[in-house]
Amino acid sequence: MATSNANTKPRDTWGSKLGFVMAAAGSAVGLGNIWKFPYTAGESGGGAFVAIYLIFVIFIGFSVMLTEFAVGRKTGLSAVGAFKSTDRRWTFVGVIGVISGLLIMGFYPVVGGWSLAYIQKIATGLLDTPEAIGGSFGAFISDPVQPLLWMALYLVLNIVIVIKGISGGIEKAGKILMPLLFIILIIVSIRGLMLPGSIEGLKFLFNPDFSKVDSSVILAALGQAFFSLSLGMGCMITYGSYLKKKENLVQTTAMVTAMDTSVAILAGVAMFPAMFAFGMEPTAGPGLVFGVVPQLFAEMGGMVGLLLALLFFVGLSVAALTSSVSLLEVVVSYLIDEKGMKRTTAVLLSAVVMALLCIIASLSLGGVGPTLFDVGAFDIFDLLTDKIFLAVGGMLVCIFAGWRLNREDLKKEITNDGDVSFPLFNLWYNLVKYVIPFAIAIVAIAGVKGGFDAGKGEIMVLGLVMIAVTALFSKKL
Ligand code: PHE
Repeated sequence: MATSNANTKPRDTWGSKLGFVMAAAGSAVGLGNIWKFPYTAGESGGGAFVAIYLIFVIFIGFSVMLTEFAVGRKTGLSAVGAFKSTDRRWTFVGVIGVISGLLIMGFYPVVGGWSLAYIQKIATGLLDTPEAIGGSFGAFISDPVQPLLWMALYLVLNIVIVIKGISGGIEKAGKILMPLLFIILIIVSIRGLMLPGSIEGLKFLFNPDFSKVDSSVILAALGQAFFSLSLGMGCMITYGSYLKKKENLVQTTAMVTAMDTSVAILAGVAMFPAMFAFGMEPTAGPGLVFGVVPQLFAEMGGMVGLLLALLFFVGLSVAALTSSVSLLEVVVSYLIDEKGMKRTTAVLLSAVVMALLCIIASLSLGGVGPTLFDVGAFDIFDLLTDKIFLAVGGMLVCIFAGWRLNREDLKKEITNDGDVSFPLFNLWYNLVKYVIPFAIAIVAIAGVKGGFDAGKGEIMVLGLVMIAVTALFSKKL
């Protein structure tokens, strides 16, 4: 075994089956569903984007998640070790995952901090003046100091949870707070649907107009599927490595995928009807949820509106936390397993790097700091991971499983040596071996080409170059 730790101490496993599903769902359900999905759908034309996203979730997301769980559990190692222990030439795929984790953590805590800030803003009277809600978001995120303080608080919460270790911190947080968030979203949805004119929002979300689709929309849908399901960066490999041999991987994958996707769709239903009723623009961008939700509750007025708004942002913050701890965990378990670091040291070291990236990202929203090809740091980290790293990472995991691992070994792993029946094994295997790598390559190439029209192509090419360089130097890793 390639690890120092695994030799001396049995690997920590999940306390219970439900605990694992909830923790994996906790990783999947986060800002990706409630913050990113609605605004990306809004910017990408609505229904057609949603339809393509759903197709990608079912055919690509499900298969990749099952692959990641299987690779993780089979090797019992985190992202890098899982590849390295099989074949050193594949180590770079794990390393790409660790880099993705760092890059996503270069902006995720910024948004997590916004969510925390909104708890305070609402508690101290933001809802009293509904007219001010729209403008206050822009002013807040471009402020040089305030968002940084909230981001720091958010990062500290991550550090505390991850230092406590896998079954202690993460599992408990997920179990209690995920159901709460689901209920709040349902209430928000019902409330929005009761407003006059809200039906237009549903039409926007579910009536696909495929004439609006271009290669950028398709790549955005693919990226959204990977981001939202926490795929393509070794996160689910790491989680799978903590999974007991008797758990049913197929069922677990189905449950996590279903939960994640229903929360995203529910977030869309919570957002768009209200937006259309208020006459807001669906292309509002990253401020969407921070504008619509407080507005909705402000219109409701009174204590109930205030309480629900508070609960919403508490729920969003917790959903964000259970996701970002999984990102941090990928980086941390790499440092523990491969570099022999102590957990506390690994957490603190990673957090320092993340904090630095987040500071640059947060400042970039106020127009401060360096840009590359006219794109600021926040958008660079988002573009690199969401559009390039995760999709390519997912593609490589599939190629690894399909072409490097043994078919029979995979079958044994997924069916628990024949105990679990998986009649779709052949379909899954062929998807992973042939269809998905090919499909991702086409979508990514077309998407990068399309990205040049939007002034983002250079950054995407940079992402591809970073991956190639990582692959070249993988022997040293
Ligand atoms: N899936 C998380 C979300 O939707 C983000 C994430 C991406 C977490 C990749 C882990 C790995 O917010």
